[in-house]
Amino acid sequence: FNNETYSNTGANSVDSVNIENRKSIFQQDQVNNHPKVSSRPTQMKQSKNKVVSYKDSSDVEDYEMTNFFQPHGKNKAELVRKATELLKARKTLPVFQHKDQILHYIEENQVTVIIGETGSGKSTQIPQFLMPNSKKQIAVTQPRRVAAVSLAARVSEEYGCSLGSEVGYQVRFSNVSHPKVTKMKYLTDGMLLREIMIDQELKKYSTIVIDEAHERTILTDLIIGFLKQIVLSKKRPDLKIIVMSATLNAELFSRFFNHAPILYIEGKTYPVSKYYLPEKVEDLVDTMIRTILHVNMTEPEGDLLCFLPGQEEIDNCVSVLNQIGQQLPKDMPSIVALPLYAALNSAQQSAIFQKVPHGKRKVIIATNVAETSITVSGVKYVIDSGLRKVKAWRHQLGLSTLLTTPISQASAKQRAGRAGRECPGKVFRLYSEDVFLKQLPKEQEPEIVRNDIILPVLTLKKLGIDDLLTWSWLEHPGEQSIISALSTLYTLGALNDNGEVTALGQKISVLPLPPQLSVVLLHAFENGVLGPVIDIASCLSVDNLILNVSGNNAELRDDVNFRRQSYSLMGTSMGDLMSLYEFFSHFKELIKKKDSSEAKSWCKELFFSFRGFKNALKIRTQLKEYMLFGIKQDSWLKPHEKEQHMRNLRVQVEGDSISNDTALSDDELTDTGSPKRSVDTSLVLKSFLKGYLTNTAIGMPDRSYRICTTGMPISIHPSSMLFGKSGIDAIMYLEYVYTSKSYARNCSAVKLEWLQEVSPNLLAQSKESIGD
Ligand code: CDP
Repeated sequence: FNNETYSNTGANSVDSVNIENRKSIFQQDQVNNHPKVSSRPTQMKQSKNKVVSYKDSSDVEDYEMTNFFQPHGKNKAELVRKATELLKARKTLPVFQHKDQILHYIEENQVTVIIGETGSGKSTQIPQFLMPNSKKQIAVTQPRRVAAVSLAARVSEEYGCSLGSEVGYQVRFSNVSHPKVTKMKYLTDGMLLREIMIDQELKKYSTIVIDEAHERTILTDLIIGFLKQIVLSKKRPDLKIIVMSATLNAELFSRFFNHAPILYIEGKTYPVSKYYLPEKVEDLVDTMIRTILHVNMTEPEGDLLCFLPGQEEIDNCVSVLNQIGQQLPKDMPSIVALPLYAALNSAQQSAIFQKVPHGKRKVIIATNVAETSITVSGVKYVIDSGLRKVKAWRHQLGLSTLLTTPISQASAKQRAGRAGRECPGKVFRLYSEDVFLKQLPKEQEPEIVRNDIILPVLTLKKLGIDDLLTWSWLEHPGEQSIISALSTLYTLGALNDNGEVTALGQKISVLPLPPQLSVVLLHAFENGVLGPVIDIASCLSVDNLILNVSGNNAELRDDVNFRRQSYSLMGTSMGDLMSLYEFFSHFKELIKKKDSSEAKSWCKELFFSFRGFKNALKIRTQLKEYMLFGIKQDSWLKPHEKEQHMRNLRVQVEGDSISNDTALSDDELTDTGSPKRSVDTSLVLKSFLKGYLTNTAIGMPDRSYRICTTGMPISIHPSSMLFGKSGIDAIMYLEYVYTSKSYARNCSAVKLEWLQEVSPNLLAQSKESIGD
């Protein structure tokens, strides 16, 4: 390590440890705008309760009651003891201290807006206050599944019950709640929206709490629009609506609900000193690591919370830190680096709440999820990259892409605030004060104005709302977005020439999947290839399954590619979707064995995520459940047809050997898949074409490709099995990335006849746009 100095105005320079000889100086801001100082919140721990997963369905009969009333791993006395212990801590939360006042407001008004500093106890306490007097269920929505799961775990402990009994959660692919026993359920906003589609009046709920409303996700906005419809209809005067936000700009919500009262809960924060980097950062992960080491070396006890934009940067950072962490000088605390992002499973998530032994320092490296959704105690230092990943929709391309963008000033303040929850703290911003003041927007743009609204528009259409332009949008998405969504739905076959929802559209709207993927699954079912298509779709639903081999080690990359090809006979000629199918099939064979070590080492050897494939197995079961659920909900089918469809579906997914129609059991979470059978590749790819028709490009004589709809050039990404291959008629791709030029990722080779067959118009259109 070479010497390097980070400093802030007035601080001493330090004996340093660092990785590189590059100098970085943090400057403290001129004005320290200290918020009010309040009493110290108490440290809390995360639940270690085992989670039992129930099948996702609204039908009571479908829930398996076995084992339900067994507290998972703990007996009642233990649960009560834990809850009593936690009560002391709860009482110190600002929200708890204003309990009577909060209840009074809620009692008096149908809609209440509550604003409180992150960590003041809104999400955990307010719903609990309502539980004793609630005759129906209470729903608390969260924009992120990771928050829904961790809140439910925490609150079940505080309430003294096992997770999934009185307190539960429901997120995509996992429903840990019981329709009769659960009084309060944390659920993602997508899940609540699905319930609205089934029952527009939300009759099973007494209260809907919209948490994290300031995040302004599309789904939250949409739910708020629906809640307004319920209020206006006067059909549910007893339904209580609570909108909770961590930021002050709650006027919008209040105004939207006819000037609903706003309740401000005084925060509990300590001053946070701010430090800036004067220069622009060249390598974000490298600078982050060096700053972490700097803080570790120079600052007294206290944990670190670091914000990076995405999972890839986080995984990178964690792995480097864990290597460096072994070599730190003895007089320095050793580092325990932990990742935090939405794709982690619950065991990995709970790791961040666990205390580290004395003399060690916890360094949590997180995405935006730690900005307001998740509060971890012990954090004294925050390092903020100033960036986040957002999903952005590109109208011209008809694709949504993940973009790394600067955060807003409001977000930067929230992030900084995480350092001052228990005592005075420090924030190190990896950007200059000038950037903060002049370049960061004051507020983040709401998602609805920058994202695709295909599913929302279909939802509204299905609910009989024809005039979308004048619907009760919390924020209007703009005419262009609405029209583009309508046109995509039309292309997918979800709307007919009169703009009415078709039978296919009805089916898509109950499946909690991107509409394109729903279309693919439904066509695959018709084509009799649902098994392989569900396999592929499951793999596509897992982040970072096929890991990138380090770009600067070309030899290793070629070697891994070569080894991958030997497991992908269809994929080498047909592309990445078929490769995924082959990899997954091989994994399923290996995981059947008692000992998983062979599967693990196979994954390691080929740079696949073992955990990812395990998740894909679970998702596979869930997708199958959703399809069964879709058939059940399908009002176009007669009862005997439903039976027949369900049997057919099971045969397709499980293979001929499992053709009985016994209920699917939880055992299937470890399902080892369908028997090996030959697969009709063309039917699989044609099913995908139905959903991704606009993501196609025609091969040109010079080996380049032109996008069918626009005629723009696009190249196959080097990560694809088809990279460098010639003689391909056309490609279909699932992702579009733009770096130095336009790249298609996740590519499959398709034939021109298939395009002609799936959409006769498309080829004509592409000839026009390409100028052939
Ligand atoms: O919603 P708000 O940000 O106002 O606060 P909260 O999420 O209800 O958190 C209140 C307290 O519960 C905080 O001190 C958290 O540290 C703690 N908590 C926890 O220990 N584990 C969770 N999963 C959630 C909250």
